[in-house]
Amino acid sequence: MESILITGSYGQLGIACIKYLKSNFKLFISGRIVPNNGMQLDITNEKTVDQVLAETKPDIILNLAAMTDVDECENDPSMARAINVDGVKNLCNGFKGHFIQISTDYVFDGRAGPYSESDKTNPISVYGRTKLDADDWLRANHLGTTILRTNVLYSYTKLTQASFVKWVVDALSERKHIHVVDDQWNNPTWTESLAPLIENLIKVKAFDLFHYGDADRMNRYDFALIIAKVFDLDTTLVSPISTADLNQIAPRPLRSGLKTEKIESALGIVPNSVETCLEKIRKQLFK
Ligand SMILES: NC(=O)c1ccc[n+]([C@@H]2O[C@H](COP(=O)([O-])OP(=O)(O)OC[C@H]3O[C@@H](n4cnc5c(N)ncnc54)[C@H](OP(=O)(O)O)[C@@H]3O)[C@@H](O)[C@H]2O)c1
Repeated sequence: MESILITGSYGQLGIACIKYLKSNFKLFISGRIVPNNGMQLDITNEKTVDQVLAETKPDIILNLAAMTDVDECENDPSMARAINVDGVKNLCNGFKGHFIQISTDYVFDGRAGPYSESDKTNPISVYGRTKLDADDWLRANHLGTTILRTNVLYSYTKLTQASFVKWVVDALSERKHIHVVDDQWNNPTWTESLAPLIENLIKVKAFDLFHYGDADRMNRYDFALIIAKVFDLDTTLVSPISTADLNQIAPRPLRSGLKTEKIESALGIVPNSVETCLEKIRKQLFK
C-alpha cells in the first residue's frame, strides 16, 4: 500500500481528503496545530520537515498546508512567502516521489475568467503571487508534480472550522442579516468533489497542471441565496454588496472561475452541480 504524507490535514480540504484516501493508502496525517498525539509539522521549519520525511518515507506528499487568509497574506507578505513558497521547497528538499500541490484561481487577475490552464497568470494579491511562485517553482524543479488549481472551496461537516457555507448557514439560522458580494464570480467547489479527484490524480500519476471547480459559475451573493434555499433559510436576510464597498485589505479577482475541460477528459469525470453538493452536505449534517 502506498503512503501519503498530508500537510495542513486539519483544514477544510484535509478533512475531506482523509475521508476519501484512508481506505486505499497509508496516511501520515500532520498539521501545524494538532490534537493530542497528532503529528506536528510546520512546513516552514526545515529541520522538522527533514525529520518527518526521514521517519515516514512517504511515496506521495499531498500539500494542503497554506496561509489561506488572503488579507492576512497582504498584511504579512514574508510569512505568506515562508509558508506558501518556502514551505513547498522545504517539503521537496530530497523528496523524489509524487508531490501534489493545491493552487488557486487567485493566480489570475480576474479580468477575463473563467480561466483554462494555458491562460496568462497575473496575480493581484500577495496570496495569489505566492501561490503562483510555488506553482512555477514546482513545475521547474520537481518532476513528479501534480498542481490542481481550484476556487472557493467550501464544506460543512462537524469538524469544519471555517467555510463560506458554514458562515452563511450559521448566520441565517441565528436570523442574522448578512451582506455578500455580488461582483465576484467563481465556480464554488465542494471539498468532497475535489477529494475523490485527488485520489484519481494520484492513481494515474497525472504529473501536470489541472483546473477544477464544480459545474456552476456564479457570483457569491447568488451562491449565498442557493445555500439559503437548500437549507430552508430566509433568503431576505441576505443582501448584496460590492467588493469596493467591503474595503478588504487584499484586492480580489472579480471575473474569475476555472474551466475544467482538461481534467474532465483526463479523468473521464463530469463536474457536480452546486445544488447537488449542497443537498449532500445537508443530508450528511442532519442524518
Ligand atoms: N479555501 C479556498 O477557497 C481555496 C481555493 C483555492 C485553493 N485553495 C488551496 O487549497 C489548499 C487547502 O485549503 P483549505 O481551504 O483546506 O485551507 P485551510 O482550511 O485554511 O487549511 C490550511 C491548513 O494549513 C495549515 N497551515 C498553515 N500554515 C502552516 C504551516 N506553516 N505548516 C503546516 N500547516 C500549516 C493550517 O493550519 P493552522 O490551523 O495551524 O493554521 C490549516 O490547517 C491550500 O493550498 C489553499 O491555498 C483553497
